[in-house]
Amino acid sequence: MAKLSQRVASIAPAGKTGWEVHFEAERRLSAGEDIIMCSIGDHDFHTPEETVEACVEALHQGHHHYTGLAGFEGLREAMARSSARSSGVATAPENIITTVGGQGALFTAVQTTLDPGEHAIVVGPYYATYPGCFRLSGNPYTVVYARPEDDFQPKREALEAALRPNTRALLMNSPNNPTGAVYSRQTMEDIASFCRDNDLWLISDEVYWTHAGYTASGKSNHISPLSLPGMEERTLIVNSVSKSHGMTGWRVGWLRAPKEIIDSLGAFSLVVTYGLSDFVSRAAAAALDHDWGLDEIAATYERRRKTMRKALDGLAGVTIHGSEGGMYVMLDVRAIDADGERFAFDLLDAEKVAVLPGESFGESAAGHIRISLCQPDDMLEEAARRIARFVDMRMTSLGGNKRAAS
Ligand SMILES: Cc1ncc(COP(=O)(O)O)c(C=O)c1O
Repeated sequence: MAKLSQRVASIAPAGKTGWEVHFEAERRLSAGEDIIMCSIGDHDFHTPEETVEACVEALHQGHHHYTGLAGFEGLREAMARSSARSSGVATAPENIITTVGGQGALFTAVQTTLDPGEHAIVVGPYYATYPGCFRLSGNPYTVVYARPEDDFQPKREALEAALRPNTRALLMNSPNNPTGAVYSRQTMEDIASFCRDNDLWLISDEVYWTHAGYTASGKSNHISPLSLPGMEERTLIVNSVSKSHGMTGWRVGWLRAPKEIIDSLGAFSLVVTYGLSDFVSRAAAAALDHDWGLDEIAATYERRRKTMRKALDGLAGVTIHGSEGGMYVMLDVRAIDADGERFAFDLLDAEKVAVLPGESFGESAAGHIRISLCQPDDMLEEAARRIARFVDMRMTSLGGNKRAAS
C-alpha cells in the first residue's frame, strides 16, 4: 500500500485515547449489565419536533441544491442574529460562514489564523479534539492549564509563560468542556488584554453559550470576549446548534469573524465542504429564528447540574470545581485516589456508573472525574446516589481520613 501522509497519521497518535473507561462500560452494557452511562456528551433526547418538521417540509419543497459557499443566506442571517444575541455585538451575515458543526469551525479557525510552524496557546483542560486540529495543520501548541484551585479559571501569568516569539493565536472555551467552568468577566478581560498586548488571534469556542447558568428569566450568564474593547478585529467565534438546539447529529455550526476573513474563507469552503446541506440549513435557520428547544434544553441542564451538585456538594472526600455551566460536573476525587482513571474503573466495577477520568482532558484535571449530565433526570439521580455511596464506602475504608491513596 502507498504511504499514509504524516499529517493524517499525526492526528491521533497510537496509544491511550482517554476513552478506555467509556469503551469498557459500553462493552459491559451490551453484555447486559445495568450501567449508567455518564461518560458521553450527547443529549439523551431527540431534536425538537418543530425542527424535524421544518426539515421534512424543506425537503418536500425541493430544497435539494447547493447553497452559497459561505452557506444558505437565510441561515447566515439567523446565525448573525444569534451571534449578536450571545455577544451583544452587532453582527451581519457577512461576518458568518457556515461550517460542519462547531468542529468544522474549530478546524477552519486554526487553518485561518496560523501559518506553517506558527505557535498557538490552548487553554486546558480542553475539549478532546483540540490537539488534533493543531497536529493536522502541523502547528506547535502549548497547553496552559487552568487549575482546580482557581475553579478552572485560567490566569494571565500562566498564559504569559507560554508565549513564544511566533505565537499567533489562543484557543479557549467557556462554558468549558470538561470542567463546566464559566469564565468570569475578570478572566475574559485578562485573556482579551493578553491577546491585544501580544497581537494574537483569539479563537473563542462558545458552543455551550446557552448553558452558562441559565436563570428563570431565560438569560444566560455567558460573556463573549467579542464584546470587550478592541477584540472584534481579532476574535473568531466557534458556535453551533448542537448543544443549544439539540441538534448534534445535524452537523451545523458557524464561525463568526471580521468580514475580510469571511470573504477569504469562500475559497476555503470551495475546497473543503462547498457549503452545507440545503434542507438541513433551512431547518437550522428556522430552529435559530424560533429558538426551538433552546429554553427547555438550557433549563434541563441547569436542573440536572443542580441535582448532581446537591447530591455531591459537601460530601466528605470529594470537591466540585467549575461545574457552573455546560453539560458536565467535574468532581475532584484526589482525597480518595490521585488517579482519576483508577477511580473511574473502580466506580464502574462497584456501582456500574461510567464517567470519564479527568486525565482524558489534560494534566490539571488529573484526579478528577467528569460526570456527563446527558441522561434522563431519574437516571442521573440514581447515578448520583451510586457515586455518593461509592465515595462513602471509599472514605470509610480510608478510615474517614482524607488521605490521598498511594
Ligand atoms: C467544547 C466543544 N467544542 C466544540 C464541539 C463540537 O461541537 P459540534 O457538535 O457542533 O461539532 C464540542 C462537542 O462536544 C465541544 O464540547
